[in-house]
This record gives sequence, C-alpha cells and structure tokens, in this order.
Amino acid sequence: MGFRSLLAVLNGERQAVPPVWFMRQAGRYLPEYRALRAEKGGFLALVYDSDAAAEITLQPIRRFGFDGAILFSDILIVPHAMGQTLTFTAGEGPQLAPQLAGARLEDLSAAPHHLDAIYETVRKVATALPNETTFLGFAGAPWTVATYMAAGEGSRDQAAARLMAYREPERFSALIDAIVDVTVDYLAGQVAAGVHAVQIFDSWSGSLAPQEFDRWVIAPTRAIVERLKARTAVPIIGFPKGAGGNLPRYARETGVDAVGLDETVDLVWADEALPKGLPVQGNLDPLLLLAGGDALPAAVRRIREALAARPHVFNLGHGIDKETPIAHVEAALAAIRKPL
Ligand code: CP3
Repeated sequence: MGFRSLLAVLNGERQAVPPVWFMRQAGRYLPEYRALRAEKGGFLALVYDSDAAAEITLQPIRRFGFDGAILFSDILIVPHAMGQTLTFTAGEGPQLAPQLAGARLEDLSAAPHHLDAIYETVRKVATALPNETTFLGFAGAPWTVATYMAAGEGSRDQAAARLMAYREPERFSALIDAIVDVTVDYLAGQVAAGVHAVQIFDSWSGSLAPQEFDRWVIAPTRAIVERLKARTAVPIIGFPKGAGGNLPRYARETGVDAVGLDETVDLVWADEALPKGLPVQGNLDPLLLLAGGDALPAAVRRIREALAARPHVFNLGHGIDKETPIAHVEAALAAIRKPL
C-alpha cells in the first residue's frame, strides 16, 4: 500500500513538503470536465451519474497528481435527500423548494435513495484511485445547508436563516437537528463506501454574531463529530469559512481533527491562536491563483513558511475559480512541491 501523506498530516504528522489538494479541483476550470458536462447535460445529471461523477473526481488526480481527491458532488444533495426539490438553472444558481422559512419540515417526504448514487460513486473512485492518494468525502455544515433550505436559494447575507433563527429558534433548531441526523448517516455512508477522511464545509459561518456562531456552527458541528467518531475512525476537517475571531473557539470546541483556513486568515495569528499541533489546511487566495505572475510562488512560500512548524495541508482559501488557467495551477504546484 502506498503512503498517503495527506492522511498522515490529518493524523497529526508534519510533512516537509505539504500534501496538496484544491477545493473544487474537480470542476469547470478543467476542459475535460466541461466536455463531459456538455455531453451529459448539466451539473446535477453529472452528480447522480456515478460513472460520470467518479470520472470527474479522478480527472484532476490524473492531470496534476493532487495528494487528495475530493468526491464530486454538492452540499445541496442533502436537502434534496430531505425532500426539497433541487434545480440548477444556468445563470440563476440553485433553487430548493419549498422554502423552509415558510413551510413545514414535517411535510417534506424524505428521499434518502438520492444518496445511494453518491455511495456508488465513492465505491467506484475508491477502487480506481492511486494508492498514495487520500480520498476525501464531504458534506455541508448544518448552518450553511440551512441557509439554502430556509431561503430556497443562495443569498448574500443569509437573512432568511438568520431571521428564522431569531424569530423561531425552536423551529430553526429542529431544522438544524434534522440536518445533523442526515449528515451523520451520509458521512458514515461515505466512509463505509471508501473515503479516508471527510470535510465539513461551513461556507457561511462568517455571517453569524458570536453567540449565534456558538449555537448554530459550533454546537451542531460538535454533534456531528461526536456521533461520527462513535461510528468511524476517519479524520474530520472542519472548514468554517469567514469565521475570523471565532476560529480558536471552533478549533477547541468542535472536536474536528483539522481546521481549514480561508484566505482572509493571517497565518501568524492563526499559528499562535490555534491549539498547538492541530493540523491546518489552506489558504492561498483563489484569485491570486487566477491572476498568476511572480506574486503566486511568493505567496505559496509565505504560506508554507508561516505553517512550517505544524502539520499543514496546502489548499486554497476557497474553491478554485472557473477561469483559472491550467498553467497557473501547474506553477502553484511546482512552488508547493519545491523543498523550502
Ligand atoms: O471542493 C469541493 O468540490 C467540495 C464540494 C462542494 C461543491 N460545491 C462542489 C461543486 C462544495 C462545498 C460546494 C458548495 C456549494 N455549492 C455552495 C456553497 C457556497 C460555496 O461556494 O461554498 C453552493 C451555493 C453550491 C451550489 C452550486 N454547486 C452552484 C451554484 C454550482 C455552479 C452551478 C453549475 O451549474 O455549475 C455548483 C457546482 C459545483 N459544486 C461544482 C463543484 C465541483 C462544479 C462546477 C464548478 O463550480 O467548477
């Protein structure tokens, strides 16, 4: 069996050259992804076609040899399995119906069979992946998933969910609990099907006041971590995007094994503020990767130096932009893999 350097880092072992993967590495910046998507007709059709989804998961591994492969899927598959309808319309973003700010969770009819196709993708990827590649599963965090379930669509300030949480805390809490239940089973199912580690994406954790952050980000994440750890043994990465000053509490209180940092986080501060020895992941600005030039290898080096004393997984601070040139990805990887 090959040595999985990314898994080793998530288990607390520092590596001289950090293992690397990029959020959304299986996606639209790759011509081979765009070709398959044009053939199959749309994002959701790809996600539920396990042969296509497995192929897309493997594309960036073949092209760049990333140390981690992220399952090709989406965070909105969970609300779909909970009984909301899910549609992606070009130019409009995703739509979920009914909006839960105005409808009852009890009236949805759950459709857990939607998740079976995802487990099938995981099994296909697991058998095809190189031995040294770490396979990452994922789910959206309850807060972030709830922002879409409440509003029925994306929003700039997540107002529907924030208002629901203030106006009807018990009903919002029941929604969060229901997402926690599905997410624990979903992540355990991914592990049973073959992923080596999982990441919990909290894309909108930055929109909450600190007390709300504790209640809707930290508490449900801790619940997932505790329940998943009772059933599986894989490391869990938490990625609370935009958490800022809430990061140290998140790191100490959720029980995650590693923390993802977005590009706004000052790494000198983070290294001081986060528990000693805790693995961290991040945090190159995806827009610097898009822009390229001499500033790119310089930023890669700064990030590596700032985190040299810790277990570090190199990543972007958020998903790769779809306009990113392949040559810039290659330049970044060369800088990431060079001995310091
Ligand atoms: O790194 C990963 O691949 C992790 C999985 C992940 C995806 N999307 C994969 C994806 C995660 C965590 C998301 C988050 C997500 N998805 C959000 C939250 C905000 C954020 O950016 O974190 C939202 C609103 C979505 C819904 C979504 N998914 C949209 C609007 C789109 C683009 C629409 C389209 O037709 O392509 C997607 C597509 C998507 N999700 C891709 C991937 C890899 C494929 C296309 C791409 O963006 O390259």
